[in-house]
Amino acid sequence: MQVSQYAASITPSATMAAGAKAKELKAQGINVFDFATGEPDFITPAHICAAATQAMKDGHTKYTPSSGLIELKQAVADYHRQWHGLDYAPASICVSSGAKHTIYSALLATLNPGDEVIIPTPYWVSYSELVKMAGAVPILVETTRKNRFLLKADQFRSAITPKTKMLMLNSPSNPTGSAYAKDELESIAKIIVDKNLICLSDEIYERLIYTDTPFVAMASFGKDVFDRTLTVNGVSKTYAMTGWRIGWTCGPANIIKAMDSIQGQQTSNPSSISQWAAIAALRGEQQCVEQMKVEFVKRRDYVCQRLNAIAHLSIEPPDGAFYAFFDVSAYFGKTFGNVLVKDSQTFCLALLEQGHVNTVQGSAFGAEGYARMSFATSMETIRGGLDALEAWLATGK
Ligand SMILES: Cc1ncc(COP(=O)(O)O)c(C=O)c1O
Repeated sequence: MQVSQYAASITPSATMAAGAKAKELKAQGINVFDFATGEPDFITPAHICAAATQAMKDGHTKYTPSSGLIELKQAVADYHRQWHGLDYAPASICVSSGAKHTIYSALLATLNPGDEVIIPTPYWVSYSELVKMAGAVPILVETTRKNRFLLKADQFRSAITPKTKMLMLNSPSNPTGSAYAKDELESIAKIIVDKNLICLSDEIYERLIYTDTPFVAMASFGKDVFDRTLTVNGVSKTYAMTGWRIGWTCGPANIIKAMDSIQGQQTSNPSSISQWAAIAALRGEQQCVEQMKVEFVKRRDYVCQRLNAIAHLSIEPPDGAFYAFFDVSAYFGKTFGNVLVKDSQTFCLALLEQGHVNTVQGSAFGAEGYARMSFATSMETIRGGLDALEAWLATGK
């Protein structure tokens, strides 16, 4: 039996692959410092778990509407109104099985074959593949470290062609942690309106910002932008709920209706129990988020200070999310053990196999020369992992 051409054209997720390789080593009894997965190490707060238990006891174990419970849509609407001043009606909200799934539904509902989607690099590994899976064409536009890995308005404008349909933006970003300030985002928003494009704004890390520059939602720049924006968010990162699989898109009602039809044929509803847990997360006390944030700040500061103290490594502290994206290119051309490190992939593989530190190569995010380390893991692992990284780097000749 042969896989389809479609399946053969999809690149497997590099972050998932890195996780699997580390598991292999762990199964051999090796202690691996694992920084590959973008997943908070905290357990889901107790009041959210209690809401899920209660939902089961109350018999909320049946199908729900395929785009989510009205109670959850109302909670999502209230959340966006409270945090970002955005007015979404429940009919403008589609709940899906995680942010990844909602992005795919949103792409299927808006893109036609051959449409171009502009994606600034470095980008989250799934964007380009999801665009391809929707039959459209990813157009990668390179940002630079000098520009804090942010897309500049003139760059965006010159990447637009008659086939351009959408811009995918992610602030704060996975993998760089960079977040757009209001004026930077507004200049991009103006082009979206001017060229009548769609902006898919992935705001999954919006609550995890560590600087004084406040987060700004793309849809907040007036009606013309609001009408052209698909706002993506979810509970995975903010509330340490990666396994519960709840994410959503807010946008024009006709697009949301189309997403509902797609999900109705594809997955039906996201887990009913998880939906009740998500309601508790959005409506419950928010102190739990602040507590996790305090920990992330400590880890971010420690990771950056340690990385910058290692010869030939450097990083600017990320504005948000929980990733350190650092330049490792000074080590290319060196030999570690009997391995010649020639790019970020060989660097990360040798570091895992010899130093037992698991990171993800920058090339997976469309940025050769870098490695990504998630600091959503314990301080103990971070300390041990950075010691191991430093010791391994010193063996390069
Ligand atoms: C930028 C970005 N968007 C979306 C997701 C997916 O989130 P979920 O677990 O809700 O599917 C991730 C997860 O790593 C991410 O980094």
